[in-house]
Amino acid sequence: MTTTDETRSPGALEAELERMLAVETFDPPAGFTRRGPIDADVAAAAADPVAFWADKARELLTWDKPFTKVLNEENPPFYKWFEDGELNLSANCLDRHVDAGNGDRVAFHWAGEEGERLAVTYADLLAETQRLANGLRSLGVGRGDVVGIFLPMIPQVAAAMLACARIGAVHNVVFGGFAATAVKERMEVSDAKVLITVDGARRKGRTAPVKSAVDAEMGELASLEHIIVVEAVGAAGLGGQRAPMKAGRDVWYADLLAAADPVCPAEPMPAEAPLFILYSSGSTAKPKGILHTTGGYLLGATYTYRAVFDLDPATDVYWCSADVGWITGHSYIVYGPLANGATSVMYEGAPDYPDYDVWWKLIDEYKVTVFYTAPTAIRACIKWGAEYPDRHDLSSLRLLGTVGEPINPKAWLWYHKVIGGERCPIVDTWWQTETGAIMISPIPGVTSTKPGSATRPLPGYSPALVTEDGQPLSEGVGVLVVTKPWPSMLRTLYKDDERFVETYFSRFGPTTYLVGDAARLDADGYFWIIGRIDDVINVSGHRLSTAEVESAIVAHEAVAEAAVVAQADEQTGQAIVAFVTLSGGRIGDDATVAELREHVAARIGKLARPKRIIWADDLPKTRSGKIMRRLLRDVAEGRALGDVTTLRDPAVMAALATKVAEAG
Ligand code: WTA
Repeated sequence: MTTTDETRSPGALEAELERMLAVETFDPPAGFTRRGPIDADVAAAAADPVAFWADKARELLTWDKPFTKVLNEENPPFYKWFEDGELNLSANCLDRHVDAGNGDRVAFHWAGEEGERLAVTYADLLAETQRLANGLRSLGVGRGDVVGIFLPMIPQVAAAMLACARIGAVHNVVFGGFAATAVKERMEVSDAKVLITVDGARRKGRTAPVKSAVDAEMGELASLEHIIVVEAVGAAGLGGQRAPMKAGRDVWYADLLAAADPVCPAEPMPAEAPLFILYSSGSTAKPKGILHTTGGYLLGATYTYRAVFDLDPATDVYWCSADVGWITGHSYIVYGPLANGATSVMYEGAPDYPDYDVWWKLIDEYKVTVFYTAPTAIRACIKWGAEYPDRHDLSSLRLLGTVGEPINPKAWLWYHKVIGGERCPIVDTWWQTETGAIMISPIPGVTSTKPGSATRPLPGYSPALVTEDGQPLSEGVGVLVVTKPWPSMLRTLYKDDERFVETYFSRFGPTTYLVGDAARLDADGYFWIIGRIDDVINVSGHRLSTAEVESAIVAHEAVAEAAVVAQADEQTGQAIVAFVTLSGGRIGDDATVAELREHVAARIGKLARPKRIIWADDLPKTRSGKIMRRLLRDVAEGRALGDVTTLRDPAVMAALATKVAEAG
């Protein structure tokens, strides 16, 4: 029990958290002693960041061919790191640990939601990766070919990513919660040759038939030559029949591995060889294919994992509750932990099934020492109540982390007190799919924390605040930028250099990276992230673009027009609100609301379903026809209407405000 002798009363906890809200700064907990030294890094990075990264690249990674050039900045923003070096990422994540005698160390303690348990060692993962790599080759996959991965949180997802890396193929992982339509779109735009998926995925006691859903979409996709299917639930899970397989195109994962040669030497890859594409939402409906390359990305993930999570790979047990389909899963479930030889928990299941205490039960069972999750999950746990964590012994925890969205101080304090027992530092880590690795975060044991602030830049990174017109700000509110290149930065948007430059390197020139977030810098040099400055909505730490949701809604035959905005939400940080005009001036009813929500779920995924749909006779537009989303946001959040004189028809806003007020 975290509370030793008394049962925590909700009233007392609430009062205690209220009291703690007055505390601005928390010094590093006295009982926490940092394992890895960091002072020398801080000094070296401040003196010469490029030399610092070069030293780290030599120290932390194993190179087949050492690099002689560190950073090529001849053609910004197309930077190159370690360009004449060669390495293989799967060799760095697997072979070198096995070669060092750590093959028996557990890489993943996998836990399924029905109580299944599996320990996958480094040797196991290496064996599986080699066979799968050969299996991919037998299907014609080679260097530079794109392989889609649409898998739930099962160990095969790590093997799939590593097998691609082993032979120089480029993986494109799609979050398991996305709809098959979204998967198809991502396979199509990336010209994926092969897709690795699963027969069915379990969630809260039910099974979703993934393969048949994928088939229904993938039929007409000529570029997709093969589908590899992991049999995770089998006929029993699918109502008595195995998943449908198309002769000549589809192959069972197990059969592919059984037929494959067990030995597949890791191919030395140029440091700048593409490693993966990960689609993320931007300002338009078309997702951005963020491209990361081999050497720099691995260095970023490996170094920051070490600096931020400060773990001893031989004794610590780490758990990141994210999904591997997001960048957090790439960098801090797969690459960062494995490159460091860490032991992780991988959990396939929801935090509230079979009961609200399942996470804490797993932490107790595996004696997890480092836990990394999202503020939205913490807020859900607060809602469920402290009695669930209090049922379990969480004393193994020594460090806690959060990622994905700003954390409200109340949630921070609850995490600190109820989960961390006030002895664990909290690292509020700020970064993005584009940055590849954590960029702003407390250094545990060193940095004093302020609830709600990601604190300061890690060694080697140069985030900064500027005014709207690019003037540096040392304090106050501004636009977040990064002023120097860093190894794990995105290299481009897949096959779209122009959009890459336009999105990130046009506003302040080709050497200043535009983050897309607004932030505040306080007198101590601490960063407080405010939120996105573009049309990106952050729902439960998941990025969605307003345009993407709008285009899904207007694809419904009854819809004439739609505008989507974010509304502050206590639970999910932000929630999606859709203002919808139906054709023929119709006004929708509850059934239409349900239908539209399902329509969006089927096209993008459940996470994109609007929380509120507001029927509008008309939308506020400027004289040039542009929808004024800012005004819609004001209405959704119940703020007084600002200046509406630039609107073509100022009366539209008053009508909408009345409607929203009536809807409550
Ligand atoms: C937001 C997730 C506040 C931010 C790793 C960023 C955060 C976007 C934090 C990237 C944090 C991420 N505090 N906001 N600690 N971490 N964000 O690409 O708006 O899915 O730009 O990467 O999430 O989301 P992405």
